[in-house]
Amino acid sequence: MGSTPPLADRLRQQADHCRAAGSPLTAALLEGAAGELGTGGPVDRLLGPLEDDPPGTVPALRFAGALHRLVLERQAPGLAVHYPSVGGTPGEVWPAARAAVEEHLERLHELVRRPVQTNEVGRSSALLGGLLVVASATGLPVRLLEVGASGGLNLQVDRYRHEVAAGVVLGDPASPVVFDAPWGGTPPRAVPLRIVERRGCDPEPLDPTSAEDRLTLTSYVWADQLARFERLRGALQVAAARPEPVERLAGSAFLERELRRPRPGVATVVWQSVVRQYLDPAERDRVEDVLAGAGRRATDEAPLACLTLEPERGVGVDRFVVELTSRPGAGTRLLADCGGHGPPITWR
Ligand SMILES: C[S@@+](CC[C@H](N)C(=O)[O-])C[C@H]1O[C@@H](n2cnc3c(N)ncnc32)[C@H](O)[C@@H]1O
Repeated sequence: MGSTPPLADRLRQQADHCRAAGSPLTAALLEGAAGELGTGGPVDRLLGPLEDDPPGTVPALRFAGALHRLVLERQAPGLAVHYPSVGGTPGEVWPAARAAVEEHLERLHELVRRPVQTNEVGRSSALLGGLLVVASATGLPVRLLEVGASGGLNLQVDRYRHEVAAGVVLGDPASPVVFDAPWGGTPPRAVPLRIVERRGCDPEPLDPTSAEDRLTLTSYVWADQLARFERLRGALQVAAARPEPVERLAGSAFLERELRRPRPGVATVVWQSVVRQYLDPAERDRVEDVLAGAGRRATDEAPLACLTLEPERGVGVDRFVVELTSRPGAGTRLLADCGGHGPPITWR
């Protein structure tokens, strides 16, 4: 007996979160699906078997991603008319979604079992502020290591244009990826930032130069959030021109190797965004142990910083926080509040 709430409740909770985060379309899909659980109909046959899946694996978003993929593959024209991502107009989406589930039940059975693989570049804008804090405190260039890097798009952080205040542009002013959401609160100082090495890991990395993987990344963007599509498109262009390595490795193995010895002359930053919920407890402990060991070996000449963007408490919340743990140094600092996809960002 677990304490996991029933799937219908989890779908409704995620629907509330999607609506609050500006995706009424995804909210309508999840509420429609929640209403069908327990009826014995096609949606129940599709989602009922996911009842006991851990909340961290977010079956709700796997369902939304699976439907979106059908639409992007031009398999579900009746549903596509409601999807802005392919030129549709939002409307009464649930009856069309229900019909698509009935028609494509077998394919959807396979698709809903795939993990969520969102690679959200909006999060890089929040993490960038953390890099500035580290650069300012250490005066050193940055060696950036990402756990759960997916397609590696956030490793490109300084190749995006971040307009963080009127007349203050960070990153590459000419980038096709543009953030023009001003930073709120007390932002970090805009000190010079030099990233001298960058690499990531993911047990299921995606290749931004492969058509199949680009489709996967696109399918997990909520279909009525066109600004996110624009940014993803731009980021795929940036990554295609200059891909950064994402190794097929779990975070613990990657960090064990990368942090074995302190690296003098650079500030090593290990960052992750919306990854914690996907790690099983043993892996989470291993990652913490490796970071703690490396933290003990860190020095002023070879400092280590851990930067995270994660939901404040568990899964399905509206408040996300950016936190920084610096070694040498004590404790973890709350740097900012932000949305699940990055902006708006308020610095503490
Ligand atoms: C929701 S995605 C977030 C991707 C990216 N960090 C972002 O913010 O756009 C979660 C990622 O964590 C990865 N992941 C799952 N288990 C992992 C592990 N043991 N070590 C590293 N990454 C893991 C998944 O494959 C997935 O790409």
